[in-house]
Amino acid sequence: MAENNPFPGENNTGHVWDENLRELSNPPPKWWMIALWASLAWFVGYGFLYPMWPIGQEPTQGLLGWSQMDEYNEAVAEVEKMRAPYENKIAGMNAAAILEDSELQEYIQRSAKVLFGDNCAACHGAGGAGNIAFPVLADDNWLYGGQIDTIMQSINNGRAGVMTAHAKILSDEEINTLAQYTLTLSQGKDDPAGKTLFQQKGCIACHGMDAKGMHALGSANLTDGIWRFLPEAGETQLDSAEYTIRHGVNDPNDPQTREAQMPAFKDRLDDSDVKKLAVYVHTLGGGQ
Ligand code: HEC
Ligand code: HEC
Repeated sequence: MAENNPFPGENNTGHVWDENLRELSNPPPKWWMIALWASLAWFVGYGFLYPMWPIGQEPTQGLLGWSQMDEYNEAVAEVEKMRAPYENKIAGMNAAAILEDSELQEYIQRSAKVLFGDNCAACHGAGGAGNIAFPVLADDNWLYGGQIDTIMQSINNGRAGVMTAHAKILSDEEINTLAQYTLTLSQGKDDPAGKTLFQQKGCIACHGMDAKGMHALGSANLTDGIWRFLPEAGETQLDSAEYTIRHGVNDPNDPQTREAQMPAFKDRLDDSDVKKLAVYVHTLGGGQ
């Protein structure tokens, strides 16, 4: 080939087209070749040391015996080890005692926040700030009571306070008077006509003579200006109060009744988690 190379001395392959178009043979730079071989060696070495080759059902395990799953399990075990002393303590204490234990508080705040986010926030809002028709937990206004044991009961057994629908018992006018009455109560007034009706029509049986509600029944305090059932778009708080009086709350005989169901968690969460949540909710606004 070299003899009839029309461009002797040049590093070409001897292939010539159109008289002078040649294929040259320049080796790639050395650094490039070194990098190529090094990466190939890395690839093969890595393939033997770590899980990689897809042979059979499972990829090869690698000579180092490393696996992502093991690493994950070790990390989880480490976290569990750190949690164990706290968890053991919580398991052996009742919620009231936990509340007194300042060492546990910080741990509970962190772990219960996650539990609350997973199990409760969908209804009660992030940090217990409440949602329309779901009670705020981050205040000191309680339907059933904010003592630690009462909160435990609310979480373990669930709650569903009942107010009878009054659509068939009261006239529209009476409903309006009573709704007005509850609204003015929270403005510090105590209208005598409304009060008489409130007593005659049995509202006091559940909300009490002073209309402040009863923890045993979960009936609302009607004097504090905190409304659980808020008006829909275009309505006023008066409309909303009228609706509650007309259709009640959790009244099985009225299909339009307001729903207020707190699910029971005793079969869904273990004992320690309920205690942690009760302590957490208590610190949000517990006490009375
Ligand atoms: C499906 C919605 C829903 C979920 C989920 C839920 N709740 Fe409730 N919760 C309610 C409703 C509704 C009420 C009010 C019940 C009533 O009016 O009788 C309530 C009431 C309560 C009360 C009583 C409040 C008071 O004022 O006395 C506490 C405490 C409470 N919830 C805590 C929790 C905790 C903690 C979780 C998570 C483990 C949780 N709830 C999950 C809907 C829910
Ligand atoms: C059988 C018991 C019962 C009777 C009787 C009853 N209530 Fe209620 N009432 C409740 C309960 C329980 C709630 C729900 C509290 C909650 O979940 O926030 C409620 C809620 C309300 C609310 C809504 C409060 C809010 O925060 O949105 C109003 C208004 C109200 N009642 C007014 C009345 C009036 C007026 C009467 C008399 C006609 C009456 N209730 C009779 C138990 C009762």
